[in-house]
Amino acid sequence: MNKTILITGGAGFIGSHVVRLFVEKYPDYLIVNLDKLTYAGNLENLRDIDQKENYRFEKGDIEDAGFLSTLFEKYAFDGVIHLAAESHVDRSITDPLAFVRTNVLGTVNLLNTARTAWAGNFEGKRFYHVSTDEVYGELHDPEEFFVEDTAYDPRSPYSASKASSDHFVRAYYSTYGLPVVISNCSNNYGPNHFPEKLIPLMINNIKNKKPLPVYGKGENVRDWLYVLDHARAIDMIYHGAALGETYNIGGNNEWKNLDLVHLLCDVMDKKLGREPGESRELITFVKDRAGHDLRYAIDASKLMNDLGWAPSVTFEEGLEKTVEWYLQNWNWIEHVTSGEYQKYYQEMYS
Ligand code: NAD
Ligand code: TYD
Repeated sequence: MNKTILITGGAGFIGSHVVRLFVEKYPDYLIVNLDKLTYAGNLENLRDIDQKENYRFEKGDIEDAGFLSTLFEKYAFDGVIHLAAESHVDRSITDPLAFVRTNVLGTVNLLNTARTAWAGNFEGKRFYHVSTDEVYGELHDPEEFFVEDTAYDPRSPYSASKASSDHFVRAYYSTYGLPVVISNCSNNYGPNHFPEKLIPLMINNIKNKKPLPVYGKGENVRDWLYVLDHARAIDMIYHGAALGETYNIGGNNEWKNLDLVHLLCDVMDKKLGREPGESRELITFVKDRAGHDLRYAIDASKLMNDLGWAPSVTFEEGLEKTVEWYLQNWNWIEHVTSGEYQKYYQEMYS
């Protein structure tokens, strides 16, 4: 194999798309997926590629420094693409410490392990930290966008933990010269998205004719990007970014939550052969999220200009593909909601 790359969090939503892209596009790379398999980790996401020659799965916790150094000895990684995280804002409000442990301590463990294993010989090495636009806080001025040097202003325990991890990654670059790159991406959507997040939760509830909980008045704005376009950006940044660089990734695709839920209801009504407007009746306004960020919007022009990235699908196409994927793979969502998905590890690896 030409290169050995560690991808953390590869059993999660975005990680599984990144793993598949790398395994398929780079047959001469060995891709090692390290994942703790928390509630968010689902090896069924990788069913189609888990027998490939250039893919390995390792179950483990980035909070465990001993485990990480043994793993680095075993594989002698050339690069790391770090996605493992606790990722849901609502969970961070009820259990902030879980976010500190995985997102902050886990990231610092990984940085330390890479630094020790590479022992100052950073030639050809790369540590890529995948982060979020939520570190920049919220926007109020509709003309304003997050750029790479927007000041950090995290407002949820989730975004505070990701901001902290970003700071550590940059500190390892300036203090030890660790060869890092960082990207901060907007909200992703697409296949394999865990149904606690807005879009898959709504798809699941619409299908099952359950209430559609819209927080507050549904006026908060998110900038949605199709997950495969994020994975493509990660590939370009991993291979093309100068060391120490940061790139913002976003779809230039802002939607108020309520408008998005309306659109999803209409798309689903058509697909399910329901009367127009039927699913909109399920919308229920519920108590707002504490500290709910008003608006996120990314200016991705640096990535477009430097590396030639552009989204490959429009939102209409991406949403259509997403709804279609869920409807055609309904057993995926059933396995997640029943807990069945957690058996796949035992079947495959023990
Ligand atoms: P996810 O919650 O779907 O997946 C996270 C994965 O990390 C899971 O497979 C989980 O088992 C694993 N994991 C959690 N704790 C771990 C630990 N201690 N050790 C090893 N593995 C562990 O998350 P996602 O939505 O795919 O996000 C992936 C990354 O991208 C995160 O770092 C997130 O902050 C970032 N991000 C996400 C979005 C988004 O819209 N989802 C947008 C921008 C950035
Ligand atoms: P989410 O998918 O949790 O992503 P994030 O909070 O990281 O942006 O939520 C997206 C938006 O949808 C956010 O403004 C909160 C809102 N939301 C609801 O209105 N209802 C829901 O049930 C969920 C999960 C989210």
